[in-house]
Amino acid sequence: MTGASEPQPQPQPQPQPLPQREHPASDGATPRSPFVTWPRPPGIVERVLQPIPLRAGVTLRLLRTDDAEQLAEAYSRNRRYLEPWEPARSEAFFTKTWQAAQIPSLLETVAAGTGLPLVLATDTQIIGRVTLAGITRGVLQSGGMGYWIDEAFAGHGIMSEAVAQVIRVATDDLRLHRIQAETLLHNQGSQKVLEHNGFERIGLAPKYIKIAGRWQDHILFQRILHDD
Ligand SMILES: CC(C)(COP(=O)(O)OP(=O)(O)OC[C@H]1O[C@@H](n2cnc3c(N)ncnc32)[C@H](O)[C@@H]1OP(=O)(O)O)[C@@H](O)C(=O)NCCC(=O)NCCS
Repeated sequence: MTGASEPQPQPQPQPQPLPQREHPASDGATPRSPFVTWPRPPGIVERVLQPIPLRAGVTLRLLRTDDAEQLAEAYSRNRRYLEPWEPARSEAFFTKTWQAAQIPSLLETVAAGTGLPLVLATDTQIIGRVTLAGITRGVLQSGGMGYWIDEAFAGHGIMSEAVAQVIRVATDDLRLHRIQAETLLHNQGSQKVLEHNGFERIGLAPKYIKIAGRWQDHILFQRILHDD
């Protein structure tokens, strides 16, 4: 006779196969690319790469191999203005040669599906950048966004409009789930741009990015694009 309080014989656990650990960056497909790892709509590459007209004669378009000179000029014009908000730059950074050397690897991120390097341009000059970088597929489907605009063009709503377009491309074309961005605690202009575009504050990251030569605290923002 067995009482309720008596221990019942338990079935012996059968050895189970260990679950396959998957890096969040991996969705099991190679190579990782938004253009190959999800069922892409026809013409998507062409659509993502089309220039997008913004206000005030400014266009948002993909970085090109012949942008080096104008990039060097834009960074030189805005050297002092950008200094508090960007990583410390070497003298070489402000040259056409240095910029030209970076462009091929940035464009490779487009082909690999890990980035989307965009510029803001007028008919005659580059006046800013917006970059999606570190796009990770698998169970994250997320990318990080950074941006700056020429001082002469700031305060006219151009970056808010550009970020809105990046969100549209990331949602409809890249089919990301989420974009992350971060700002220094006192970068109220950048925080406004994000808030205008539905980003929410998700936390504070101490000593997160080395800006102007110092590891500085940042406010983290995210925008959820869709839950599919
Ligand atoms: C931040 C930055 C990208 C904003 O670009 P922009 O084209 O001027 O942005 P918008 O005009 O779309 O919007 C800026 C908003 O911030 C506000 N703003 C700008 N500077 C501000 C400040 N110092 N304090 C409070 N609000 C400020 C503007 O009034 C505007 O708000 P509104 O639309 O409600 O009037 C630009 O100032 C810049 O490139 N700064 C230097 C680099 C940088 O900070 N990059 C981002 C790093 S996270």
